[in-house]
Amino acid sequence: MAKKQQTSKTPPVPPLFVFALRNVTEAAARIVYDTIGRGQRDESNALAAAAMRSELTKLPISATIVAGDAYKDVSNVSSSLYNGEQIGDVDGHLKFDIAVDPVEGTGYLAKGMTNAMAVIAMAPKGTMFEPGPAFYMEKFVGPKEAEGKIDPEAPLEDKLKILSDVLNKPITELTVFVLEKPRHDDLIDRIYKAGARTALYPAGDVAGALMAAIPDSGIDALVGTGGVPEGIISACAIRAMGGVFLGRIDPQLATERAAVKAAGMDTKTWYRCSDLVKSDQVYFSATGITTGLLFSGIERKNGLERTETLVISGASQERQNLTTYHQFTGEVQASEPEVENA
Ligand code: FBP
Repeated sequence: MAKKQQTSKTPPVPPLFVFALRNVTEAAARIVYDTIGRGQRDESNALAAAAMRSELTKLPISATIVAGDAYKDVSNVSSSLYNGEQIGDVDGHLKFDIAVDPVEGTGYLAKGMTNAMAVIAMAPKGTMFEPGPAFYMEKFVGPKEAEGKIDPEAPLEDKLKILSDVLNKPITELTVFVLEKPRHDDLIDRIYKAGARTALYPAGDVAGALMAAIPDSGIDALVGTGGVPEGIISACAIRAMGGVFLGRIDPQLATERAAVKAAGMDTKTWYRCSDLVKSDQVYFSATGITTGLLFSGIERKNGLERTETLVISGASQERQNLTTYHQFTGEVQASEPEVENA
């Protein structure tokens, strides 16, 4: 089939766009360094959101925040990147949808705990799933080998059996990431009874989802219920990298249940990656704040700040880990840092 001609209104995204995106998550991660482990949950979120907004406006984009971070706490909308927010010039020529979490794991960052990161995903305008009033999503994530083989309705034990077959290792050698929450007690028990191991984390299911899709990461699957924006962000990365992402709306709060029902949202259908983001042209960037599964957190030493960032481009089907040393003068600002490819 002949390739569709790009019109003058939709020029192609520059091949190195994803490297510009990395400035967005690095700025957010660097600005909150001083708040790690100081109980400053709201302050760190507001700082990171402002830093992201400022970096995003430097990009030649016209974008809408489809899944933002103000979703659970509407009182904080003014200091968040909120659903429906318009970023950049409305006539800007690169038109995107954005799913973002300036601090994924805010509460745990405030306690100095693991897996906090700044993360963003972008896809062409109109291609991302709109979460509406839903906060929570039930998720199953697995590796590329399991693509097309997992029946989302099947019992967990059957899914583990399929994973064991496709990965060619016994169930006893499978490790399943689960957020350690009371709602998952039964699920965790079933994983143990099936003979598999758990990797229990208090927060950070974006990291868990990516690890489940990345080959030989030590995590073979993610199961359980987490945030909807985190689900959309993870689905974007997995669409670009390959892997299984299945999600269905799973309201946990009484107000959320009522709002989801009133909005007529479907809580039965399992969505695949291709339902949550309907394009391969996705761009993803995440920078570690505290050390977690995917990367080390920020380190500040001898006038330098070291960041670790994972960038993924669906356009080029590449995933890269970037270690960057930024000059640190006491004030975090956009710079032209030295990048070392790891
Ligand atoms: P925050 O950035 O809102 O702190 O999210 C952290 C997180 O653990 C996510 O990774 C996960 O999807 C979600 O919270 C689960 O929500 P909850 O902690 O309310 O169960």
